[in-house]
Amino acid sequence: MLTVHQTPSITLTAKCSRDIEADLLILPVFEDDPIKEETDLDSASGGELSAALARREVTGKAYDLFFTAVRGWKSPRVLLVGAGPRREFTADRLRRSAIAGGRASRDRGVTRVALIHRGGTSVTPEQAAQVLAEGAVLSNFDGAAYKTGDTRRVWLSAVQIRVGAPSLAVEAAIERGSVLGECTNLARTLSNEPSNTLTPRAFADRAQALAKDAGLSAEIFDEKRIAELRMGLLLGVARGSAEPPRIVILRHEPKNAVKGPVLGLVGKGITFDTGGISIKPADNMDKMKDDMSGGAAVLCAMAAISRLQAPVRCIGVIPLTENMPGGSSIKPGDVLTSAEGKTVEVLNTDAEGRLILGDAVWYARQLGATHLVDVATLTGACVVALGKYASGLFGTPDAWRDRVRDASERAGDRAWPLPLFDDYFDLFKSEIADFANTGGRPGGAITGALFIKQFTGGLPWVHIDIAGTAWAEDAKPYQPKGATGVGVRTLAELALDAEAWGSKL
Ligand code: BES
Ligand code: MN
Ligand code: ZN
Repeated sequence: MLTVHQTPSITLTAKCSRDIEADLLILPVFEDDPIKEETDLDSASGGELSAALARREVTGKAYDLFFTAVRGWKSPRVLLVGAGPRREFTADRLRRSAIAGGRASRDRGVTRVALIHRGGTSVTPEQAAQVLAEGAVLSNFDGAAYKTGDTRRVWLSAVQIRVGAPSLAVEAAIERGSVLGECTNLARTLSNEPSNTLTPRAFADRAQALAKDAGLSAEIFDEKRIAELRMGLLLGVARGSAEPPRIVILRHEPKNAVKGPVLGLVGKGITFDTGGISIKPADNMDKMKDDMSGGAAVLCAMAAISRLQAPVRCIGVIPLTENMPGGSSIKPGDVLTSAEGKTVEVLNTDAEGRLILGDAVWYARQLGATHLVDVATLTGACVVALGKYASGLFGTPDAWRDRVRDASERAGDRAWPLPLFDDYFDLFKSEIADFANTGGRPGGAITGALFIKQFTGGLPWVHIDIAGTAWAEDAKPYQPKGATGVGVRTLAELALDAEAWGSKL
């Protein structure tokens, strides 16, 4: 496999634009924005800038690009990246502008850039430093891991960031952004990986290596240990596969932990979802290699949480298996017994994510988690409800769900709440077992969430359905086609914020 991402060196600068030494200066431009504060930019460009503004070639429309050469500055060229109307400007717009600028730079063979945050917006220097660092690292990602032939790639190697006056808080924000960007790229790499190389065992091996690098403790349970724990739901899903299941357990136990809460993060790790005996149609089945994206998000968020010393104890639980049809697969109508003792009638073997999460969420509770968040590519119904640009957000109590929602907003991982009224649970009636694993088509994202809720023991819990957001179908200036790494930064932002939520929930 080829290297598919690199983290550049990122440094802070306070120099004025003309004195910054780089190959390219990247500057946001708003709609109706003459870039007044860069007083000599127009003359350095030989009047190119004012001419382009006049003929409306520079519009400031989000992610539009305009390159111009500059004379007498220490950098030879400037890239203006459209940032939309100034009043709509957000930290996420800045993050995406940095990604668009970074990707355009790499396309043109440029490796040393400077990213500039303009004044006069509501985005603070600290926020700006973090999202510019995230953006720089996220732009240094490439999905083509298995292409042979001409594989020369240009990577950003040195990135300078200017956000106003330097400070310790801004330095820390750059470090945070760099780690969050790198961990997001690691998750994207895992989700892009095909299922023949990323088996449950391979995922566990990679998790162990990554945990070691990040200073996390990791434990891997094999099929024997999983059987000892009587995890009938996970074992049931794994039965059809020649590949044995695994569970990855990660622990972050910092000295500076807030007293009380233990964050339990649980991620769906289906390394390939054929649907099992309730098999999926052939069209687009290849995409089901990314059905471990929730697991990747938990793994890579735990790495970030450890590297950034988030002040809260965290436990990560990632159940891993394939969902395959075969002579020993579970069949529709089969009844499984969960580790907790609840019985489930499997009406559809393609509703496998909730099964493995049921056992994993229960286990996170056994390990002492007090606050749960699970992340899963759980339902096609969530894609129907919210499309590809927002994850489904479910949970209780509302205050805990809103904490996660705020974290997702800081992260630039869009998520939107859907209800959990218990009326929907009637759909799960089974004649023979405690409940069934599907509730039919109506409200499919909600019923999927309610199934998982049965295993949370009444703890504060949030479920993030990333079925639509884990994979980008269309390339955008700020996101190549393929895995997005959604969830990594949300979970890390949540843990970093623990001092605020610790005592109140
Ligand atoms: N992994 C799928 C959900 C999915 C669908 C993710 C499309 C990404 C894109 C999940 O395991 C699944 O198959 N869910 C079923 C549930 C149904 C049988 C109740 C679904 O959504 O069809
Ligand atoms: Mn499925
Ligand atoms: Zn699935």
